[in-house]
Amino acid sequence: MDLPVLTAEPWADYGLIDSGHGRKLERYGPYRFIRPEPQALWSPAMPDWAADGEFVGGSEEDGGGRWNLEARVPASWPLAWQGAGGAVRFRATNTPFRHLGFFPDMACHWDWMAARVGVGASVLNVFGYTGVGSLVCAAAGAGVTHLDASKKAVSAAVENQRLSGLVEAQIRWVVDDALKFMRREVRRGRRYDGIILDPPKYGRGPEGEVWELYRDLPELLALARSLLDERSSFLVLTVYAIRLSAVAIAELAAEALIGLGGTITAGEMTIREEARGRLLPTAIFVRWERLPS
Ligand SMILES: C[S@@+](CC[C@H](N)C(=O)[O-])C[C@H]1O[C@@H](n2cnc3c(N)ncnc32)[C@H](O)[C@@H]1O
Repeated sequence: MDLPVLTAEPWADYGLIDSGHGRKLERYGPYRFIRPEPQALWSPAMPDWAADGEFVGGSEEDGGGRWNLEARVPASWPLAWQGAGGAVRFRATNTPFRHLGFFPDMACHWDWMAARVGVGASVLNVFGYTGVGSLVCAAAGAGVTHLDASKKAVSAAVENQRLSGLVEAQIRWVVDDALKFMRREVRRGRRYDGIILDPPKYGRGPEGEVWELYRDLPELLALARSLLDERSSFLVLTVYAIRLSAVAIAELAAEALIGLGGTITAGEMTIREEARGRLLPTAIFVRWERLPS
């Protein structure tokens, strides 16, 4: 089994400037931030890092910690991504969960997904958060069902839709529990051309439904399989911060997607550092695709 490495390259509004000694320095539009990064085992390229803020304390496993921000950093600010399928705009913000309100490493999938959705294609984005993946597909002409348990995340996604000038796009915003909604879609006999799955390790649905990745990933993939058919074109699954290997997730996906044809690829996602070009690993991915015959 080959386990390829996908890399999100820097772009105008985002870059991983430098990394090392357990931290990383990134630019988000005009602002630079330092965040903990346990995977950066090496030494930084630059002797000093000037930044507009730093996330300190807490742990990746248990959360916690807080931002120390310069006064000039606003509550949120707009960023853009220029993809092959069109431009998308979204707001960055320093969240208490140590990230900036979107996941820049997902950029390694955005053009790939946009290239697989024709005008009128139907895409389901589960655990869609603030909607960048949904907007990338919508900008490429797809009709999107965007699902997240958090009303606040969906409101931010709707604001990003407006910011992107995609108010006319066909996007159905759903606040629901991922598994509950997908079970219902399967019962209704629904199908999709593409599915994006970006589950957290642990989460809660709007009515307190518990999502646990180790327990629930097999059902999530089985439901996704039922929502794909012989006309479907792609599935992307990303899995962060877990003690599972890409091989295990690839084998699970291969079992769940059996009979669908097409090809499955799994491996690691990375971000390219600007200082020395080093690759910072961020997540495991699985892609399923069927090339048009
Ligand atoms: C932030 S995103 C993507 C996770 C990210 N890739 C990570 O670092 O793990 C996770 C999203 O899943 C949503 N979520 C958590 N539990 C959920 C559930 N049971 N049903 C639907 N969405 C859920 C959260 O509201 C959040 O927006």
